[in-house]
Amino acid sequence: MCGIVGYIGEKSAKDILIDGLRRLEYRGYDSAGIIVLDDKPNLVKTEGKVDTLDEKIKDISMPGNIGIAHTRWATHGMPTDENAHPHFDCNKKIFIVHNGIIENYKHLKESLIKNGHIFSSETDTEVLAHLIEENYEGNLESAVENALSKVIGTYGIAAISADEPDKIVAAKFGSPLIIGLGDNESIIASDASAILRHTKQVVYPEEGEIVVVQKDGFITKGEISPKDRIAILEWELEQAEKSGFPHFMLKEIFEGPKVIKDSIRGRLIVDEGISKLGGLEDVADELSRIERLIIVGCGTAYYAGLVGEYLLEEYGGIPTEVEYASEFRYRKPLLDKETTALIAISQSGETADTLSAVKEVKMKGVLTLGIVNVVGSTIARETDAGVYNHAGPEIGVASTKALVSQLAILSLITLMFGRQRELSLVMGQRIAKEIYELPAKIEEILSQNDKIKEIAEKYKDYKDFLYLGRKYNYPIALEGALKLKEISYIHAEGYPAGEMKHGPIALIDENFPTFGICLKDSVYDKVYSNLCEIKARCGKIIVVASEGDSEIKNIADDVIYIPKTLEMLSPILTVVPLQLFAYHIAVMLGRNVDKPRNLAKSVTVE
Ligand code: G6P
Repeated sequence: MCGIVGYIGEKSAKDILIDGLRRLEYRGYDSAGIIVLDDKPNLVKTEGKVDTLDEKIKDISMPGNIGIAHTRWATHGMPTDENAHPHFDCNKKIFIVHNGIIENYKHLKESLIKNGHIFSSETDTEVLAHLIEENYEGNLESAVENALSKVIGTYGIAAISADEPDKIVAAKFGSPLIIGLGDNESIIASDASAILRHTKQVVYPEEGEIVVVQKDGFITKGEISPKDRIAILEWELEQAEKSGFPHFMLKEIFEGPKVIKDSIRGRLIVDEGISKLGGLEDVADELSRIERLIIVGCGTAYYAGLVGEYLLEEYGGIPTEVEYASEFRYRKPLLDKETTALIAISQSGETADTLSAVKEVKMKGVLTLGIVNVVGSTIARETDAGVYNHAGPEIGVASTKALVSQLAILSLITLMFGRQRELSLVMGQRIAKEIYELPAKIEEILSQNDKIKEIAEKYKDYKDFLYLGRKYNYPIALEGALKLKEISYIHAEGYPAGEMKHGPIALIDENFPTFGICLKDSVYDKVYSNLCEIKARCGKIIVVASEGDSEIKNIADDVIYIPKTLEMLSPILTVVPLQLFAYHIAVMLGRNVDKPRNLAKSVTVE
């Protein structure tokens, strides 16, 4: 949510900042702005996308080697030129870009206005620029420190001063920020995709830390570039590029087989029917005492958690509850710290609600675990232990490959708990063996992409959809509906197939198609009957079915067959055709698939 980029070095800051903004645009894309310091500050801000900003600045000479830039997802104030970042002080000397929310901005703004400050936007961020000005005595770092001490809220910021053009001051609290250290240049960004092109050496500022970034390194807590703070990025540049695909989303769906391989690499021992999760070894003793798991997440990550609940209870032998992180944190849950663990699932590792749920239970002494994709992200660092997805950067705003890897990791965690409890060796071996087969099975589904596109063409003009599934595939019905809503803006509802007759069936007629997940598993007959009820009301039906099921054709208008697997692992396969269906419809409707309206990739505000 909001992309920040800053550059200081010997190259043209303008080019590097615009390239960085393009790579971060998936985080927010309603307005953008840039400031480059030359003899004078060159500031340009605009409503609209990075392309609009680029168009506005392409003929402006900005030879400077230091600057900051921002792409916004509006919270306070409409997306307008004035509300776009960077924001500045009364003298237009101090400039700041910010990701997060300043909660006490109204109060601060009132007292700053009383002191004579003149505001030019409706944003909470502008308060920071004036607060820094108020505290400025020739040292930007101290001014930022004093200003932030008065602030309640979350921030990732980068600030520069025309009077000190040799530094960018960066600070972080609850919003992501990474500093890249190149050869006589440093790049600040809210995620690694804007840094990868320049360097793999990075520093992750800690919560509340203020860092002075210079072209030849950084200063933090009085120390110059401490070596033990430097980490190496594992991601490759190609992973953050489209590589010939028309959209990141399609590329990321097609990465499914690789993502499974990367998520399970070195973590499965088939002969012993166990998983080995290095990131959980340090808490092995605590885990052996756990009698209750709580999974929290938001959006697609929450649905991964719902599948986890079925997995962990049926095969892991451990009572599990799943909750939206945004609800959990306000519920005052009763937790026994000796026997409860919380699993936070988050692709970005920065989602504000998920992070708050982690902090909330940590305060109560509960063990916290993460299933996180972004290495070094806040949730990854806040949790006591965890498992990284190793899925590579996910750029499409609507999550796809991350879900596939979250499900694979939940299967590994299930194996871990299960084999420590009641799960037999034979069953453990079967599950482990079958997990290995999944990449090839996803390939088989992906090879039907053209057929799924044809089906999408038939259904693209419908205004409403119902998605039905049961047991392990009930969460996938929810996810299928979410994907369609998110990227095509078509109304879609996901429902447990058995509940359909308690309400949604009233909606069904020939204009309200249903997408069913009806596999040859323990609930086949039940879901089949539910789909018959739709058929009897003239509803069109698309079904994801098991290979070889000819009976399903009696009721389905269109069928997508998928390879057989264990029922518990089937969500990893069924989700893929649903992702492709939503993708093709969105493309056919001319939607901005990778950057759907109003959404943001990582939601770092409550
Ligand atoms: C946003 C994204 C979703 C994502 C959710 C949770 O809403 O648009 O695709 O599932 O955040 O994100 P996380 O990074 O915590 O998995």
